This record gives sequence, structure tokens and C-alpha cells, in this order.
Amino acid sequence: MTHRVAVLAGDGVGPEVVAEARKAVDALGLAIEWTDLPWGSAYWQVHGRMMPDDATEHLRTYDAILMGAMGDPMVPDDVSLWGSILAIRQSLDLWANVRPCRLLPGVPGPLAGRGAGDFDILFVRENTEGEYSGAGGIAHRGLASEIAVEAAIFTRAAIERVVRHAFELATTRRGILTSATKSNASRFGYVLWDEIAEEVAADHPGVRYERILVDALAARMVRAPESLDVAVASNLFGDILTDLAAAIQGGMGMAASANLAPGAEVPGLFEPVHGSAPDIAGQGIANPAGAVWSASLMLDALGERDASATLMGALEEVCRDGPRTRDVGGSATTREVGDAIVARLAI
Ligand code: NAI
Ligand code: MG
Repeated sequence: MTHRVAVLAGDGVGPEVVAEARKAVDALGLAIEWTDLPWGSAYWQVHGRMMPDDATEHLRTYDAILMGAMGDPMVPDDVSLWGSILAIRQSLDLWANVRPCRLLPGVPGPLAGRGAGDFDILFVRENTEGEYSGAGGIAHRGLASEIAVEAAIFTRAAIERVVRHAFELATTRRGILTSATKSNASRFGYVLWDEIAEEVAADHPGVRYERILVDALAARMVRAPESLDVAVASNLFGDILTDLAAAIQGGMGMAASANLAPGAEVPGLFEPVHGSAPDIAGQGIANPAGAVWSASLMLDALGERDASATLMGALEEVCRDGPRTRDVGGSATTREVGDAIVARLAI
């Protein structure tokens, strides 16, 4: 069966890292039909929008979406993100953002005395609402009385499905589920979040459930990361905590993610966590690891379990033995790392 994959390489380093991910997947010899969709900031320059009007309906026709990054200094960030990735997540209802955060052997992590094996957290981030629901507005524009309202939306349905999914993932790992909350200061949304998490916990007696205030969780990720297994978080908390996690796993270039709607017939969207990195774009030095890891997550979601594991194994070997890009202590180019992964796949 041929897998039809839409490629949204996007801006900046996006096309550079996606090229390596695609090359590695091609080396696995699977039947993949790639379709390049030239959307992003260059498209915006011509058309005044990041994607065409029927983008979501078009994306629905694929089996998966592989994305690089969106964003360019010439386009306001809220325009580029709301016109692309945030719009796709909401319109395809990709409600679970699953981010494996693991320090791979050979990659220098910043935590003193910690190495690979100490840091292996699977984050599950709610991906459609919370503080990123897009509800709100600005009034009294330009006046001294100007006000902005950013409404955080928390619904039982969205909380329950993502918490339930996280519990199910915990049963396949070390059996610990940590829920990030802020129900001491936020008196409504996170109170509902906690209540639903307690209910779902009751359905999973084999999983050790704990809830922890998000600020304390940030500290725990640094002080005692080995105590964490699966962590479930709201959209905002998950966004911030996974950037911290990315730093602990060696930097933004390492981090991978899958935007999924488990159980639904929509394509998942797979993307490195990093943005378009305009500071290093065009130099050929971006780390392709996060993109390659994301491609491995994509293969897993497409049912290609063995190919997914093979690709992840090759990535781990290259991280361990080099070559590595300079953000993770090496001096190799993006392409040299991609070539080394392909060479491992050929062995
Ligand atoms: P960023 O992730 O692009 O860069 C942050 C830092 O990490 C920079 O120093 C960059 O050089 C480094 N970095 C990122 N990816 C790397 C890689 N593969 N290898 C080595 N180093 C890497 O975040 P920033 O600078 O805040 O945002 C840049 C643009 O990307 C903005 O327009 C932003 O809106 C957009 N963005 C897009 C995202 C997406 O498409 N999902 C996610 C985050 C940001
Ligand atoms: Mg982020």
C-alpha cells in the first residue's frame, strides 16, 4: 500500500531539515508518495495568506503530513502561526500533541551529572483549546484605554480525550501519569482539568497518577527528571514545558512531535518542535534530528512499525557515534548528518 504524504517544508530551516528526513525515509524503501505543498511565508508574500482557502480540505486527502516550520521575520508571528500550524491543528482537530522527550546517548545534555537514561518523558499536550483557543479580542484600539481579552477555553470533551489518551500511553510505559495544573491560581479551567483527570485516573488503577502545579513540574524536570514518565498538559503548559524538555534533551534541534487525532480518520501532522530558526537558516547547519525523529513517529502512525524503529535506531546510532551538528557538540552540516543516517540504514 502506498502512503500519500503531504510535505509542508515551510520556511527557514524547515526545508533543510525536512529534506534530510525525507531522504532517510526514502532509504527505507517504503512505498511513499510525497506531495510538496509550497505554503508558508513565501506564499504569503504573493497571496497575502499562508495557505490557500481550501488547505484543510486538501490536507484531509493525505495519509500523513510532514511539516518543517513556519515563520519569517517579514511576517508577523501571529499571522504565520494562526495562518498555518494552529489553523491546521484546529481544523483537522488534531487534539493530541505527543512529544517524546528523551536524551539520546552521545548528545550532550545541560543537566550536570545526568545522562541518557535519566531523561525520558512522553509529553501529551492538549492541542486545540486552552489559552490558544483564539477566543478574545482587542477593543479601544489605539486609545489609552486599550484592552485585550484572551479567553482560555476548557471543555470537558477536550480535556477528557487528551487525559484518557495520556493514561493509555502510560500503561504502555512505566505506568506513571503526571498532570500539569495550576488550579491554585486559576480557579475554573484547571479546577475542571483536575476533576476530569481524577475521574479518568479511577478508570486506570494500574497507573500511578499525580497532579503537580506547573511551576513545580518545571523545577522537577530539572531536579528529578527520572521521576517522570508520561506528562499531560494543557496547550500553553505543554508548549512551554516541552521547550524546557527540548533544552534538556540537547536543544531545539533534537525535539520531535506528532499532532494526532487518535481513532479518527484524519492525517496526523508530524513536525520538529523547533521553528524556522532564521538566525541559522540558509547556512546548512540546522540539526535534522528532530525532523528525522518526527518522520519516525509518522511511520509508526502509518502502521510501518518496523521501519519506524529502524529509522529511530539509525538516528540514535548517529547521535551516539557522530557526525553531529554544532548545536549538539559537533561540526557537521545538516546534509552530512542526513547522509550518515542513510548510510546506517544501508548496513
Ligand atoms: P526557533 O525554534 O526557530 O529557534 C530558537 C533557537 O533554536 C534559535 O537559536 C535557533 O537557531 C535554534 N534552533 C532551532 N531549530 C534548530 C535546529 N534544527 N538546529 C539547530 N538549532 C536550532 O524559535 P524562534 O526563534 O522563537 O522562532 C523563529 C520563527 O519560527 C518565528 O517566526 C516563530 O513564530 C516560528 N515558529 C514556528 C513553529 C512551527 O512552525 N511549529 C514553532 C516555533 C516557532
Ligand atoms: Mg513552542
